[in-house]
Amino acid sequence: MKTLIKNVEMVDAEGRRFGKVLIEDGKIKKVYKEKGNVKSEYDQEIDGQGYLLMPGFIDMHCHLRDPGFEYKETIETGMQAALKGGFTTLVAMANTNPLMDEAALVKANLEKAEALKLCNLIQVAALTKEFNDSNLVDIESLRPLTNVFSNDGVSIVNPDIMVAGLKASTAHDFILLTHCQPETELVQRDVDLLEEIGGHLHVCHISKKDTLDLIVEAKAKGLDITCEVTPHHIFASAMDYKVNPPFRTYPDRRALIEGIKAGIIDMCGTDHAPHSEADKQKGAPGINNFEMAFAMYYTVFEQNGISLEKLSEMLSDAPARRLGLKAGLIKERYPADLVLVDPNWEGKINPKEFVSKSKNNPFGGETLKGKVMMTMVKGEIKYDNNGPAL
Ligand code: DOR
Ligand code: ZN
Repeated sequence: MKTLIKNVEMVDAEGRRFGKVLIEDGKIKKVYKEKGNVKSEYDQEIDGQGYLLMPGFIDMHCHLRDPGFEYKETIETGMQAALKGGFTTLVAMANTNPLMDEAALVKANLEKAEALKLCNLIQVAALTKEFNDSNLVDIESLRPLTNVFSNDGVSIVNPDIMVAGLKASTAHDFILLTHCQPETELVQRDVDLLEEIGGHLHVCHISKKDTLDLIVEAKAKGLDITCEVTPHHIFASAMDYKVNPPFRTYPDRRALIEGIKAGIIDMCGTDHAPHSEADKQKGAPGINNFEMAFAMYYTVFEQNGISLEKLSEMLSDAPARRLGLKAGLIKERYPADLVLVDPNWEGKINPKEFVSKSKNNPFGGETLKGKVMMTMVKGEIKYDNNGPAL
């Protein structure tokens, strides 16, 4: 199957250009400049007039709830929601039930995802057995299945486990993702340990100015550390909607936006955390983000004069590089994981219309800008908002 996307402005971390993209066998076969002639034949043509073509978004942080909490979300409903939001690769956290602390469980999820043929899945493995803060999982059996380990959802309180996790991240070449609450205190401890013993560290959902200062120092020392923000922490402050880490102050929110501008924050994740209404009422923390994340990010970036190229870097290129994927750019021989967006769309997104199984999102009344019109994974259209002439 060969597809041509024509009349389109392409935007990725490397810049903007107008032209066409030829897709073959799931990959970007050729990128044509403005007036380049397409000599090869193709089966399908997509007119991207008025839209922007971006690399598919790679979410470094989401919760798919499968297995164990299928009433909140399944791999299938989560991926449908992700595709609607422009996400083509998902890093799914390990706090399922059972937790992802054994190879057979991780393997089962990867097989489920493979059969669904929706998004690409990287299934995170737990760092410790049952998130118990005392026994590491069997990394040797898990490592062939994933290069991401995390107890996200809970903090690693025991410093010995943090030491063991960092050492293992070097020995087995994986990325250790941390959830830090209290945030600044634990990030400080982890940066100190990283400096002492090395390792590959990614700090999830940073939300405070003080944390940002620690990340700046750690990067200046050349430590292997990256971090991400969530859409909600840069979009709002001081809300009492329950989420971990909580909404912070206005100065914290401003500092995060400045941290993006300064290149201190590497990635834009979602922390998509679906919960049923009953669970939310009982105090479950989390926001259902896949279907609103792009518009929230785009709106905040635009309001603050941050380019779409930078957003593409943070949504696609940076996570791809961190995860070791040859993806996240519109480039020949890269996977045809692509998104068409309408940058001029403005409106309100209604959580009641989410395709996710849950609807927990407090931003329903907000006017946002930017809409995902089509999402393609490996050259196949997986979501179509019937915008472009397909
Ligand atoms: O708000 C959150 N929800 N933060 C987390 O770290 C976990 C997540 C969840 O699993 O619901
Ligand atoms: Zn977390």
